[in-house]
Amino acid sequence: MAWFKVGKETSMKDGDLMKAKVNELEVLIIRIKNNFYATSCYCTHEDYDLSEGFVDDGKLICPNHFATFEPSNGSVVSPPEGSGDISPLKSYKTKVENGEILVEVA
Ligand code: FES
Repeated sequence: MAWFKVGKETSMKDGDLMKAKVNELEVLIIRIKNNFYATSCYCTHEDYDLSEGFVDDGKLICPNHFATFEPSNGSVVSPPEGSGDISPLKSYKTKVENGEILVEVA
């Protein structure tokens, strides 16, 4: 595992989503208040790009069919209506150092 810089802390505000490329991996960075979270970037329902989604009440929402995920661990809060269970997102550790957001990936 290694830490990778993905952007400046000041480039994101509360509720922002940002797609970051780490090697060949696309990661979604989520800012909620002063916390940064990182998950896989594509919805586990139908692969929609979650960087086009939004945060509501501290949860990550896929805009395609409104699957709802927990940003801190990628778990499914609620699947799309009528879809049955969907898989959680992958979750990655983050930290902020010297104003830079870092993500830990393998
Ligand atoms: S693709 Fe995300 S909810 Fe369907």
